[in-house]
Amino acid sequence: MNNFKPENTVRPRRSVLCVPAINDRALQKLPDLDCDAVIFDLEDSVAVDAKQAAREALERFFEKTPLVGRETIIRINSLDSAFGSDDLQTVLRCGPDAVLLPKVDQPSDIHDISDILSEKDGAETMRIWAMIETPRGVLNAAAISEAAHTPDSRLSAFVVGLNDLRKETGVPNLPGRTYLVPWLMQIVLAARAYGLDVIDSVSNDFRDLNAYAHECEQGRAMGFDGKMLIHPAQIAAANQHFAPSPEALDEARSIVDAFAAPEAAGLNIINANGRMIERLHVTGAEKLLRMAQAIDARKAENP
Ligand code: COA
Ligand code: MG
Repeated sequence: MNNFKPENTVRPRRSVLCVPAINDRALQKLPDLDCDAVIFDLEDSVAVDAKQAAREALERFFEKTPLVGRETIIRINSLDSAFGSDDLQTVLRCGPDAVLLPKVDQPSDIHDISDILSEKDGAETMRIWAMIETPRGVLNAAAISEAAHTPDSRLSAFVVGLNDLRKETGVPNLPGRTYLVPWLMQIVLAARAYGLDVIDSVSNDFRDLNAYAHECEQGRAMGFDGKMLIHPAQIAAANQHFAPSPEALDEARSIVDAFAAPEAAGLNIINANGRMIERLHVTGAEKLLRMAQAIDARKAENP
Protein backbone atom coordinates (compact mmCIF):
# COMPACT_ATOMS: atom_id res chain seq x y z
CA MET A 1 0.00 0.00 0.00
CA ASN A 2 1.26 3.47 -0.82
CA ASN A 3 -0.35 6.25 1.22
CA PHE A 4 1.77 9.00 -0.41
CA LYS A 5 -0.13 12.13 -1.44
CA PRO A 6 1.98 13.94 -4.02
CA GLU A 7 1.83 17.75 -4.18
CA ASN A 8 2.14 19.31 -7.60
CA THR A 9 3.99 22.46 -6.66
CA VAL A 10 7.14 23.94 -8.15
CA ARG A 11 9.66 24.40 -5.36
CA PRO A 12 12.71 26.64 -5.53
CA ARG A 13 15.77 24.64 -4.42
CA ARG A 14 18.50 27.12 -5.27
CA SER A 15 20.09 27.30 -1.83
CA VAL A 16 19.91 24.14 0.28
CA LEU A 17 21.70 24.89 3.55
CA CYS A 18 23.01 22.01 5.62
CA VAL A 19 23.17 22.39 9.38
CA PRO A 20 24.47 19.80 11.83
CA ALA A 21 21.50 18.93 14.07
CA ILE A 22 23.81 19.10 17.09
CA ASN A 23 24.75 22.75 16.46
CA ASP A 24 22.21 24.73 18.52
CA ARG A 25 23.72 28.09 17.71
CA ALA A 26 23.41 27.44 13.96
CA LEU A 27 19.86 26.08 14.35
CA GLN A 28 18.81 29.31 16.09
CA LYS A 29 20.03 31.34 13.10
CA LEU A 30 17.82 29.51 10.58
CA PRO A 31 14.61 31.58 10.85
CA ASP A 32 16.52 34.65 9.63
CA LEU A 33 18.37 33.01 6.74
CA ASP A 34 17.24 33.51 3.14
CA CYS A 35 17.74 29.93 1.91
CA ASP A 36 15.13 27.94 -0.02
CA ALA A 37 15.65 24.74 1.95
CA VAL A 38 17.40 23.40 5.04
CA ILE A 39 18.96 19.96 5.45
CA PHE A 40 19.18 19.04 9.14
CA ASP A 41 22.04 16.60 9.34
CA LEU A 42 22.13 13.58 11.64
CA GLU A 43 24.78 11.81 9.54
CA ASP A 44 28.43 12.70 8.95
CA SER A 45 28.52 16.09 10.70
CA VAL A 46 27.35 14.54 13.99
CA ALA A 47 29.83 12.48 16.03
CA VAL A 48 28.80 8.96 17.01
CA ASP A 49 28.51 9.85 20.70
CA ALA A 50 26.33 12.88 19.90
CA LYS A 51 23.71 11.15 17.72
CA GLN A 52 21.04 10.87 20.43
CA ALA A 53 21.57 14.44 21.62
CA ALA A 54 21.27 15.60 17.99
CA ARG A 55 17.96 13.75 17.52
CA GLU A 56 16.58 15.35 20.69
CA ALA A 57 17.77 18.81 19.62
CA LEU A 58 16.02 18.36 16.30
CA GLU A 59 12.75 17.28 17.88
CA ARG A 60 12.82 20.32 20.16
CA PHE A 61 13.59 22.56 17.18
CA PHE A 62 10.75 21.25 15.01
CA GLU A 63 8.31 21.58 17.90
CA LYS A 64 9.15 25.24 18.49
CA THR A 65 10.41 26.75 15.25
CA PRO A 66 8.30 26.64 12.10
CA LEU A 67 10.51 27.60 9.14
CA VAL A 68 7.84 29.41 7.15
CA GLY A 69 8.25 29.10 3.39
CA ARG A 70 11.40 26.98 3.54
CA GLU A 71 11.50 23.30 2.59
CA THR A 72 12.80 21.12 5.44
CA ILE A 73 14.79 17.93 4.95
CA ILE A 74 16.37 15.64 7.55
CA ARG A 75 19.46 13.65 6.54
CA ILE A 76 19.53 10.35 8.39
CA ASN A 77 22.24 7.74 8.75
CA SER A 78 21.94 4.75 6.46
CA LEU A 79 19.25 2.29 7.50
CA ASP A 80 22.00 -0.39 7.52
CA SER A 81 23.89 1.50 10.23
CA ALA A 82 23.36 1.35 13.98
CA PHE A 83 21.70 4.80 13.89
CA GLY A 84 19.32 4.74 10.89
CA SER A 85 16.18 3.38 12.48
CA ASP A 86 16.33 5.72 15.50
CA ASP A 87 16.95 8.60 13.08
CA LEU A 88 13.85 7.60 11.16
CA GLN A 89 11.76 7.70 14.34
CA THR A 90 12.97 11.28 14.83
CA VAL A 91 12.04 12.07 11.22
CA LEU A 92 8.51 10.76 11.83
CA ARG A 93 8.17 12.82 15.01
CA CYS A 94 9.46 15.99 13.31
CA GLY A 95 7.52 15.66 10.03
CA PRO A 96 9.90 17.44 7.61
CA ASP A 97 9.05 17.81 3.92
CA ALA A 98 11.60 15.15 3.01
CA VAL A 99 14.05 12.61 4.35
CA LEU A 100 17.52 12.55 2.77
CA LEU A 101 19.21 9.16 2.43
CA PRO A 102 23.01 9.15 2.38
CA LYS A 103 25.20 6.98 0.14
CA VAL A 104 22.41 5.58 -2.01
CA ASP A 105 23.91 2.75 -4.06
CA GLN A 106 20.96 1.04 -5.71
CA PRO A 107 17.20 1.31 -6.35
CA SER A 108 16.34 -1.00 -3.44
CA ASP A 109 17.69 1.67 -1.02
CA ILE A 110 14.84 3.93 -2.20
CA HIS A 111 12.19 1.20 -2.28
CA ASP A 112 13.08 0.06 1.25
CA ILE A 113 12.51 3.47 2.84
CA SER A 114 9.51 4.18 0.65
CA ASP A 115 7.87 0.96 1.91
CA ILE A 116 8.56 1.91 5.53
CA LEU A 117 7.16 5.45 5.12
CA SER A 118 4.05 4.12 3.42
CA GLU A 119 3.14 2.18 6.54
CA LYS A 120 3.53 5.14 8.90
CA ASP A 121 1.06 7.79 9.92
CA GLY A 122 2.43 11.29 9.57
CA ALA A 123 4.46 10.59 6.43
CA GLU A 124 1.66 10.99 3.88
CA THR A 125 3.34 13.85 2.00
CA MET A 126 6.96 13.13 2.95
CA ARG A 127 9.32 12.95 0.01
CA ILE A 128 12.62 11.13 -0.35
CA TRP A 129 15.85 12.78 -1.43
CA ALA A 130 18.92 10.70 -2.27
CA MET A 131 22.62 11.51 -1.87
CA ILE A 132 24.57 10.27 -4.90
CA GLU A 133 28.08 10.14 -3.51
CA THR A 134 29.51 6.66 -4.01
CA PRO A 135 30.99 5.02 -7.11
CA ARG A 136 28.06 2.58 -7.21
CA GLY A 137 25.60 5.42 -6.74
CA VAL A 138 27.01 7.23 -9.77
CA LEU A 139 27.09 4.07 -11.88
CA ASN A 140 23.50 3.21 -10.87
CA ALA A 141 22.14 6.77 -10.96
CA ALA A 142 19.77 6.05 -13.86
CA ALA A 143 18.38 2.91 -12.23
CA ILE A 144 17.97 4.75 -8.91
CA SER A 145 16.21 7.64 -10.64
CA GLU A 146 13.84 5.15 -12.27
CA ALA A 147 12.32 4.69 -8.81
CA ALA A 148 10.64 8.05 -9.54
CA HIS A 149 8.91 6.83 -12.70
CA THR A 150 5.44 6.55 -11.17
CA PRO A 151 3.44 9.68 -10.27
CA ASP A 152 3.07 8.46 -6.67
CA SER A 153 6.81 7.95 -6.13
CA ARG A 154 8.24 9.80 -3.14
CA LEU A 155 11.67 10.24 -4.74
CA SER A 156 12.03 13.93 -5.50
CA ALA A 157 15.69 14.97 -5.74
CA PHE A 158 19.29 13.85 -6.02
CA VAL A 159 21.98 15.65 -4.02
CA VAL A 160 25.56 15.15 -5.19
CA GLY A 161 28.15 14.51 -2.47
CA LEU A 162 31.62 15.13 -3.83
CA ASN A 163 33.47 14.87 -0.52
CA ASP A 164 32.57 11.19 -0.27
CA LEU A 165 32.99 10.57 -3.99
CA ARG A 166 36.47 12.11 -4.00
CA LYS A 167 37.40 10.06 -0.96
CA GLU A 168 36.19 6.84 -2.61
CA THR A 169 37.80 7.49 -5.98
CA GLY A 170 40.94 9.47 -5.21
CA VAL A 171 40.00 12.11 -7.79
CA PRO A 172 41.33 15.44 -6.48
CA ASN A 173 39.50 18.74 -6.20
CA LEU A 174 41.02 20.59 -9.15
CA PRO A 175 39.83 24.07 -10.18
CA GLY A 176 36.81 23.66 -12.45
CA ARG A 177 36.25 20.16 -11.06
CA THR A 178 37.87 18.92 -14.27
CA TYR A 179 37.77 15.14 -13.90
CA LEU A 180 34.55 15.13 -11.89
CA VAL A 181 32.46 16.85 -14.56
CA PRO A 182 31.65 13.65 -16.52
CA TRP A 183 30.19 12.07 -13.38
CA LEU A 184 28.29 15.24 -12.47
CA MET A 185 26.74 15.37 -15.93
CA GLN A 186 25.81 11.69 -15.72
CA ILE A 187 23.97 12.36 -12.46
CA VAL A 188 22.15 15.37 -13.96
CA LEU A 189 21.08 13.28 -16.96
CA ALA A 190 19.88 10.40 -14.78
CA ALA A 191 17.85 12.81 -12.61
CA ARG A 192 16.19 14.45 -15.61
CA ALA A 193 15.32 11.10 -17.20
CA TYR A 194 12.63 10.65 -14.53
CA GLY A 195 11.85 14.27 -13.67
CA LEU A 196 13.92 14.60 -10.50
CA ASP A 197 15.49 17.79 -9.24
CA VAL A 198 19.24 17.65 -8.83
CA ILE A 199 21.33 19.62 -6.33
CA ASP A 200 25.05 20.29 -6.77
CA SER A 201 27.60 19.34 -4.12
CA VAL A 202 28.90 21.58 -1.31
CA SER A 203 31.93 23.84 -1.67
CA ASN A 204 34.07 23.36 1.43
CA ASP A 205 35.94 26.68 1.26
CA PHE A 206 33.27 29.07 2.58
CA ARG A 207 35.65 32.03 2.82
CA ASP A 208 36.61 32.09 -0.89
CA LEU A 209 33.35 33.50 -2.20
CA ASN A 210 34.88 34.29 -5.57
CA ALA A 211 35.76 30.67 -6.35
CA TYR A 212 32.38 29.68 -4.91
CA ALA A 213 30.51 32.06 -7.26
CA HIS A 214 32.29 30.44 -10.22
CA GLU A 215 31.25 27.04 -8.98
CA CYS A 216 27.61 28.18 -8.74
CA GLU A 217 27.84 29.48 -12.30
CA GLN A 218 29.30 26.17 -13.44
CA GLY A 219 26.66 24.17 -11.56
CA ARG A 220 23.90 26.20 -13.16
CA ALA A 221 25.42 25.70 -16.61
CA MET A 222 25.59 21.95 -15.99
CA GLY A 223 21.85 21.92 -15.33
CA PHE A 224 21.66 21.73 -11.53
CA ASP A 225 18.64 23.26 -9.78
CA GLY A 226 20.65 24.52 -6.82
CA LYS A 227 23.51 23.87 -4.49
CA MET A 228 23.95 22.24 -1.12
CA LEU A 229 25.54 24.81 1.19
CA ILE A 230 27.47 24.61 4.44
CA HIS A 231 27.56 28.24 5.54
CA PRO A 232 25.17 31.22 5.53
CA ALA A 233 27.74 33.25 3.56
CA GLN A 234 27.04 30.97 0.57
CA ILE A 235 23.29 31.62 0.37
CA ALA A 236 23.19 34.87 -1.61
CA ALA A 237 25.28 33.66 -4.57
CA ALA A 238 23.31 30.41 -4.87
CA ASN A 239 20.02 32.35 -4.85
CA GLN A 240 21.36 34.63 -7.55
CA HIS A 241 23.00 32.08 -9.86
CA PHE A 242 20.28 29.42 -9.74
CA ALA A 243 17.37 31.86 -10.18
CA PRO A 244 16.02 32.51 -13.67
CA SER A 245 17.81 35.63 -14.94
CA PRO A 246 15.74 38.71 -15.96
CA GLU A 247 16.80 38.08 -19.59
CA ALA A 248 15.66 34.44 -19.43
CA LEU A 249 12.31 35.56 -17.97
CA ASP A 250 11.84 38.18 -20.71
CA GLU A 251 12.53 35.53 -23.32
CA ALA A 252 10.18 33.06 -21.63
CA ARG A 253 7.38 35.65 -21.64
CA SER A 254 7.99 36.41 -25.31
CA ILE A 255 7.85 32.71 -26.22
CA VAL A 256 4.60 32.18 -24.32
CA ASP A 257 3.08 35.35 -25.84
CA ALA A 258 4.22 34.45 -29.36
CA PHE A 259 2.49 31.07 -29.29
CA ALA A 260 -0.60 32.51 -27.58
CA ALA A 261 -1.13 34.98 -30.46
CA PRO A 262 -4.00 34.08 -32.85
CA GLU A 263 -1.66 34.01 -35.87
CA ALA A 264 0.39 31.21 -34.22
CA ALA A 265 -2.63 28.89 -33.97
CA GLY A 266 -1.76 25.64 -35.75
CA LEU A 267 1.95 26.52 -36.03
CA ASN A 268 4.70 24.57 -34.30
CA ILE A 269 7.49 26.85 -35.48
CA ILE A 270 7.67 30.66 -35.48
CA ASN A 271 10.23 33.06 -36.89
CA ALA A 272 10.88 35.41 -33.93
CA ASN A 273 12.97 38.24 -35.42
CA GLY A 274 15.35 35.89 -37.21
CA ARG A 275 15.40 33.18 -34.56
CA MET A 276 13.47 29.95 -34.70
CA ILE A 277 11.28 29.14 -31.73
CA GLU A 278 9.39 25.89 -31.50
CA ARG A 279 6.20 25.04 -29.66
CA LEU A 280 8.29 22.66 -27.53
CA HIS A 281 10.01 25.71 -26.04
CA VAL A 282 6.69 26.80 -24.48
CA THR A 283 6.78 24.11 -21.78
CA GLY A 284 10.23 25.18 -20.60
CA ALA A 285 9.26 28.84 -20.75
CA GLU A 286 6.13 28.24 -18.66
CA LYS A 287 8.16 26.25 -16.13
CA LEU A 288 10.64 29.10 -15.79
CA LEU A 289 7.83 31.60 -15.21
CA ARG A 290 6.26 29.31 -12.58
CA MET A 291 9.65 29.02 -10.85
CA ALA A 292 9.99 32.82 -10.74
CA GLN A 293 6.52 33.03 -9.16
CA ALA A 294 7.46 30.33 -6.63
CA ILE A 295 10.59 32.26 -5.67
CA ASP A 296 8.52 35.43 -5.19
CA ALA A 297 5.99 33.50 -3.10
CA ARG A 298 8.77 32.05 -0.92
CA LYS A 299 10.17 35.55 -0.38
CA ALA A 300 6.71 36.87 0.50
CA GLU A 301 6.28 34.16 3.15
CA ASN A 302 9.75 34.68 4.59
CA PRO A 303 10.75 38.29 3.83
N1 COA B 1 23.72 26.99 9.31
C1 COA B 1 23.33 28.03 10.10
N2 COA B 1 24.20 28.87 10.71
C2 COA B 1 25.51 28.62 10.52
C3 COA B 1 25.98 27.57 9.72
C4 COA B 1 25.02 26.72 9.10
N3 COA B 1 25.39 25.69 8.33
N4 COA B 1 27.33 27.60 9.70
C5 COA B 1 27.70 28.62 10.47
N5 COA B 1 26.62 29.24 10.97
C6 COA B 1 26.58 30.40 11.84
C7 COA B 1 27.50 30.19 13.04
O1 COA B 1 26.77 29.56 14.08
C8 COA B 1 27.92 31.60 13.36
O2 COA B 1 26.91 32.17 14.15
P1 COA B 1 27.29 33.23 15.33
O3 COA B 1 27.81 34.44 14.59
O4 COA B 1 25.99 33.47 16.02
O5 COA B 1 28.31 32.55 16.16
C9 COA B 1 27.93 32.32 12.02
O6 COA B 1 27.14 31.51 11.14
C10 COA B 1 29.32 32.47 11.45
O7 COA B 1 29.94 31.21 11.41
P2 COA B 1 31.54 31.08 11.33
O8 COA B 1 32.14 31.55 12.61
O9 COA B 1 31.99 31.72 10.07
O10 COA B 1 31.76 29.53 11.18
P3 COA B 1 31.67 28.40 12.31
O11 COA B 1 33.05 28.09 12.77
O12 COA B 1 30.65 28.74 13.34
O13 COA B 1 31.11 27.19 11.44
C11 COA B 1 31.35 25.26 10.07
C12 COA B 1 31.84 26.66 10.35
C13 COA B 1 31.94 24.72 8.80
C14 COA B 1 31.71 24.35 11.26
C15 COA B 1 29.80 25.33 9.96
O14 COA B 1 29.53 26.26 8.96
C16 COA B 1 29.08 24.04 9.68
O15 COA B 1 29.00 23.16 10.52
N6 COA B 1 28.49 23.90 8.45
C17 COA B 1 27.70 22.76 8.08
C18 COA B 1 28.54 21.54 7.89
C19 COA B 1 27.71 20.36 7.46
O16 COA B 1 26.51 20.35 7.60
N7 COA B 1 28.36 19.33 6.90
C20 COA B 1 27.69 18.16 6.43
C21 COA B 1 27.31 18.27 5.01
S1 COA B 1 28.69 18.37 3.94
MG1 MG C 1 28.43 12.23 2.46
